[in-house]
Amino acid sequence: MKISLAYATVAESLSDCLAAVVLDHNTDKSKDAKPHPLVAAGPAIADANAVMDVLAIGDITAKPQETTLLHYPKGLAAKRFLLVGGGKSSRFSADELRRVAGTAVRFVKSKDLKSLTIALPEHSAVSAPEAVRAIVEGAFVADFDPNYYASDRKDQRLDELTILAPPTSDKTQLESALNTGVIIGESQNFTRDLVNEPGNKMTPTILGERARKMCAEAGLKCEVHSTDKIKELKMGAFWSVSQGSAEPPALIVMTYEPQHKPIAGAPVIGLVGKGITFDTGGISIKPADGMEKMKYDMAGGAAMIGAMRAIARLKPAVKVIGVVCAAENMPSGTAQKPGDVQFAMNGTAIEIINTDAEGRLVLADGLCYARELGATHLVDAATLTGACVVALGMLNAGIFCNDDDMHSRFQKAASSAGEKFWRLPIDDEYRDLIKSQIGDIVNSGGRWGGAITAAKFLQEFVDDRPWIHLDIAGVAWMEEAKPWIAKGPSGIPVRSLVEFVRSFTA
Ligand code: BES
Ligand code: MN
Ligand code: ZN
Repeated sequence: MKISLAYATVAESLSDCLAAVVLDHNTDKSKDAKPHPLVAAGPAIADANAVMDVLAIGDITAKPQETTLLHYPKGLAAKRFLLVGGGKSSRFSADELRRVAGTAVRFVKSKDLKSLTIALPEHSAVSAPEAVRAIVEGAFVADFDPNYYASDRKDQRLDELTILAPPTSDKTQLESALNTGVIIGESQNFTRDLVNEPGNKMTPTILGERARKMCAEAGLKCEVHSTDKIKELKMGAFWSVSQGSAEPPALIVMTYEPQHKPIAGAPVIGLVGKGITFDTGGISIKPADGMEKMKYDMAGGAAMIGAMRAIARLKPAVKVIGVVCAAENMPSGTAQKPGDVQFAMNGTAIEIINTDAEGRLVLADGLCYARELGATHLVDAATLTGACVVALGMLNAGIFCNDDDMHSRFQKAASSAGEKFWRLPIDDEYRDLIKSQIGDIVNSGGRWGGAITAAKFLQEFVDDRPWIHLDIAGVAWMEEAKPWIAKGPSGIPVRSLVEFVRSFTA
């Protein structure tokens, strides 16, 4: 997709399809209040009589993602005018604009149009550079289609997106916002691409190769290790998951060094991802129903690789180390068994109660290793527990954190990225639920508070460093299409991670 800025008024644009946001300006909250829709594209829109007529006859309510297409609109030079609802003006945000842009892109794609112009909305809640970035990100997200292997997959990509800004705009500022949006949008789709691939096309080895290629292109240092190194590092928990599979594991380590050497004691961020390329459950095998979904059990790892891709290009002034522990969780004659005891890299003796609680095993060693490589602040992301999905559904991911400052920093990043995380507790008392009789801890705390006991397990490996755990089991895969995004991999939490890392620069 070619993306550019054009500086002209809405009336002048010669686009095949020009899109603009419509907002409801009615502040009356009573039940029978009528919407008061207005196009949010600057004063020039007043020339567009046709639009005003349509608004006046009441067809448009400005409801979020409502679409109305006008042909040869009076007063505009464009051939088509697409009005996209953005909800109440009082609640308008960059995130709403992301969805509006996505909706416009998916709308024109469904009509087989190849180019689209989106008018930059004028609104006090969203600055012009923020708006440019939101439109670009929303457009990339919308341009992803998951039907990779369909024989009738034609090229559905949008060829060209133009953002129409007023001629008086600060062009340097908008160009730079556009570049940031492109980097983040592309990186989110890079992650979605990895997550979308089925288990036979995304083994730990292949994931390692994809990470290596990305790092070479982005100028990052990358090492991919396998069985020998994993054993040498005494990553007994990680290895135990992979031992039942014919596919060797991959320990992927990506390093970003800022351009100027940071002062001693500066933070080093460790991003640790669960990269289970397929989770059968192992000997504690999962039911057949829905097991195919477990190809996305590497979404946390893929998010870390996508975030590193964006970080390499955005060049924040903070060192970042990405560690992805990739393995396939299979039942076989060499698989680990319930009751087995495994030793993690830091010596913790883990009693395996359930071989399907494998994500925490690979992350245990990943977190230890990130610390050993010098990470002072840790963030892990994993499709870790069904319990988290039961608790929060598919809208919010779970966030667990041992440091309130780091938590609020992350939430700030997440809210500007338009991704949702709900904090769940990790009180000390929950630790009792994972005590082992034979060793130190068990790998399953049972049914109650399953997302929390999983987080408590991980906490054993962070050694009191500021740490965030993101349980993305419910949000990594969209179970249904929305007007702005296809069904399939969501790319959450790439945008929040990138924003979080960038927050260390200021
Ligand atoms: N990969 C699953 C968790 C999952 C569930 C991800 C649904 C995405 C959607 C994880 O490895 C798992 O199997 N967890 C078990 C843990 C239990 C055995 C303690 C679970 O949640 O049932
Ligand atoms: Mn599992
Ligand atoms: Zn899993």
